Amino acid sequence: MSLPQQAGVKERLDAIEGMLPELENFLIDLQSRDFEIETKSNAFDLVTEGDVASQARLTEFIEAKFPADQIIGEEESDKNAAPGKGFCWVLDPIDGTTNFANRIPMWAISIGLLYDGKPVGGIVSGPALGLRYRGEVNGGASCNGKPIRVNGKSPLRAGVVVTGFPYDRARRAEPLSRALANMLREAGGVRRLGAAALDFCFVADGRFAGYYEMSLKPWDAAAGFIIAQEAGATLSNMSGAALDIFEDEGTVVTNGRIHEELLAQIGPMLEALALGPST
Ligand code: IPD
Ligand code: CA
Ligand code: CA
Repeated sequence: MSLPQQAGVKERLDAIEGMLPELENFLIDLQSRDFEIETKSNAFDLVTEGDVASQARLTEFIEAKFPADQIIGEEESDKNAAPGKGFCWVLDPIDGTTNFANRIPMWAISIGLLYDGKPVGGIVSGPALGLRYRGEVNGGASCNGKPIRVNGKSPLRAGVVVTGFPYDRARRAEPLSRALANMLREAGGVRRLGAAALDFCFVADGRFAGYYEMSLKPWDAAAGFIIAQEAGATLSNMSGAALDIFEDEGTVVTNGRIHEELLAQIGPMLEALALGPST
């Protein structure tokens, strides 16, 4: 990146961090009250009043401050737009909506920043956990202002692995359970937090040794990608090739040391998925 582009990343992340406390407080307050919950693609796929309001506030702020920037957001009408040239924001106004809707504190506001389609900056804020992560290309990653780094745990049985399940999980329950069964046999611990953005960040700051999930959307991954990468994580698709958050069907993020071992353990899931839906 050129110096002016790098300065543009910092300027944007600083600006959005400046408006975040108000949004964080609004969502924490909303979560403690009665709020509207509706379903989207199926009964497991929820949207709350909080998701819609968070998206609106973020979009309004970005449009006023950086009118030339593109925005792709989960609750936007044009959410499947491809990123163009220059700066593009990729927003998940609440990642972990099922947690938010059930008053479980593992949810986050995930704000990714791309330049010419590549992740260059990200903020993941978990207000109910008091955690705010930031990553800037060539600028490192931090949590609440302190530098973070992946852990050094190896082999797989020395560390904790986290995963998540897509909203069409019922249809793919059998293939998904093959990877899970291997983690239950081989990993030091297995978790499912329910907020992909936090999963990336918890690998980045050394809590988890690895994370894998099928069918993430760009807004689940955009901010976490750069935070994890800057903290020294290895990111790939499920074949081990460089991760493309707009194209890849599977995501793997690790401390690097357990990457090959984790890829090997999810192999049976990929073979079963290739055979088609289980029900
Ligand atoms: C979901 C969460 C969850 C993951 C799902 C995502 P949402 O995002 O990140 O952890 O397993 O794949 O769709 O819908 O709560 O923004
Ligand atoms: Ca999400
Ligand atoms: Ca969401």
